[in-house]
Amino acid sequence: MSVHRVSDPAPLVIAIDGPAGAGKSTVGRALAERLAIDYLDTGAMYRAMTFAALRRGIPEGDLAEIAAMAPEIEIVIDDRTVMVDGIDATAAIRGRAVTEAVSQIAANPTVRDVLVARQRAWVAAHGGAVVEGRDIGTVVFPDARLKLFVTASPRVRAERRVGEIGGNVDEIEAAIIIRDRKDSTRDHSPLAEADDAVVVDTTGMSIDEVVEHIMGMLG
Ligand code: DC
Repeated sequence: MSVHRVSDPAPLVIAIDGPAGAGKSTVGRALAERLAIDYLDTGAMYRAMTFAALRRGIPEGDLAEIAAMAPEIEIVIDDRTVMVDGIDATAAIRGRAVTEAVSQIAANPTVRDVLVARQRAWVAAHGGAVVEGRDIGTVVFPDARLKLFVTASPRVRAERRVGEIGGNVDEIEAAIIIRDRKDSTRDHSPLAEADDAVVVDTTGMSIDEVVEHIMGMLG
């Protein structure tokens, strides 16, 4: 973890976005390590809010209840763990219940306001970071030093997924295409490249090659 000093210049922020399964997290973590800064997965924050709502029995579509709850939820994220109100939710936030409900929670404007403020505070406290998420380069850190849109073809993303967890590549590819469409067309912070984002297509590239390629952009 990096140490932040008051006299530091503006902290280094690198924004990473891209479709699900394109390798953003792997690339983001490897890049952060290489730059000796921290890594923040903002999707984990939206998942943490969803976990909290499910735990409290609040339906994900109940806008007002979710909005009332959001500022009260304590989320502590470090390198590998996510704590929600003192409970280790690291595994549960990746589970099916959270994954099914999270896009609706992430569409709640109050949830977004609360989490955007916390993301800025987290990065300030950590003296910079590689920050992954939909709206990082557009809304949260529009002045990020580098904005990356990490992508790969749906086929390659499906093949990587099959390599990790098994399954049928055609079915997974079809699901990926549907999710991309859903993520790109939603009202709040849809999946879209920032105008000034650099597209990094990881199809056919190793992690090391991708990190080297990005380091070259930083000069
Ligand atoms: O990247 P992920 O699958 O963990 O993200 C979980 C959900 O949160 C997904 O619906 C996208 C949404 N999200 C968001 O709206 N804004 C972010 N900055 C990060 C994630």
